[in-house]
Amino acid sequence: MPTKIEKDVISGRETTGQVWDGLRELNTPIPRWWLYTFIATCVWSVGYVVVYPSVPGLFGYYHGAINYSTRVEVNGQVASIAAIRARSMDRIEATPFAQIASDPKLMAVAMAAGKITFANNCQPCHGAGGGGRPGFPTLASDSWIWGGKLEDIQTSVQHGIRNEDPDARMSQMPRFGVDGLLKPVEIAAVADYVLALRGANKDGTDVTAGGKLYAENCVACHGEKGEGKREVGAPNLRSAVNLYGTSKDAIIAQISAPRQGVMPGWNARLDAATIKSVAIYVHSLGGGE
Ligand code: HEC
Ligand code: HEC
Repeated sequence: MPTKIEKDVISGRETTGQVWDGLRELNTPIPRWWLYTFIATCVWSVGYVVVYPSVPGLFGYYHGAINYSTRVEVNGQVASIAAIRARSMDRIEATPFAQIASDPKLMAVAMAAGKITFANNCQPCHGAGGGGRPGFPTLASDSWIWGGKLEDIQTSVQHGIRNEDPDARMSQMPRFGVDGLLKPVEIAAVADYVLALRGANKDGTDVTAGGKLYAENCVACHGEKGEGKREVGAPNLRSAVNLYGTSKDAIIAQISAPRQGVMPGWNARLDAATIKSVAIYVHSLGGGE
């Protein structure tokens, strides 16, 4: 249909010449403000393309007049956080434990670093929150094998236990069964005595023979009353927390063939400040002395 410019009678405006069911379409121009805004955004986008990284190419992209990069910005932020952290970690390394404890800010950094270090390195063996599991001592109770002072924990972590580090904590319970030091009946008797020490001799078994064997073979490490001895890492045999089980069978198994658990030393893997931090964290788990 050929269009002919007509004026609408009522509004006096031009129409597009199209008619639908008797309705004429007015030819309303775009509002000026809209048009100017549109032109402004076009101009802006050209400026933007020039100033910021924009056009992709085969071997990279146009970096823009100001060479802006979110990656560079993030790297800068990461570097400044690392610098702040390094300053705190240097202070942790240089500050004695007692002084760290009286500096809430430094303490917070040490606890945060210790917690992460523990989750990444220690949790697989010692369990979440240091809860422990068979063969791996709980670090969250006041029952310590080697010692629960900050310095003790630090030493245990630095050098580990029964490993190739010459300064590692060392002590070997003799293999009474495997090496034939005690006969099976003797091992059973001394196991009964250990149960009695634990207050678990419910049926009143006679433990005289076991007591004698204990005095001859075990007192040197585990103490007169089974209280244990930290110098030789011999656990308290009456403790509620325990490494290898408290049933008679478990005790017999341990006397026959002690497990001699190994913990790696961390000196080569963690820096001094991180080891101090993890010691502070472990100390805070509930059993620190
Ligand atoms: C491969 C397993 C393993 C890993 C990993 C491990 N430990 Fe241990 N840890 C042990 C064993 C096993 C013992 C007990 C050894 C023994 O005396 O019989 C132990 C003992 C300890 C003790 C001495 C506990 C006491 O009662 O005196 C401390 C403290 C300790 N670990 C802290 C840590 C920390 C902190 C980490 C992480 C940096 C860690 N451990 C990582 C296996 C591990
Ligand atoms: C040279 C020191 C030494 C002597 C002697 C020794 N022990 Fe031990 N005992 C240890 C050490 C160290 C451990 C820690 C676990 C390991 O190394 O296997 C231990 C662990 C144990 C445990 C396991 C404790 C737990 O928490 O599960 C029992 C039970 C035990 N000893 C009983 C005995 C009895 C009984 C004798 C004597 C027949 C004896 N020990 C003699 C050093 C000794």
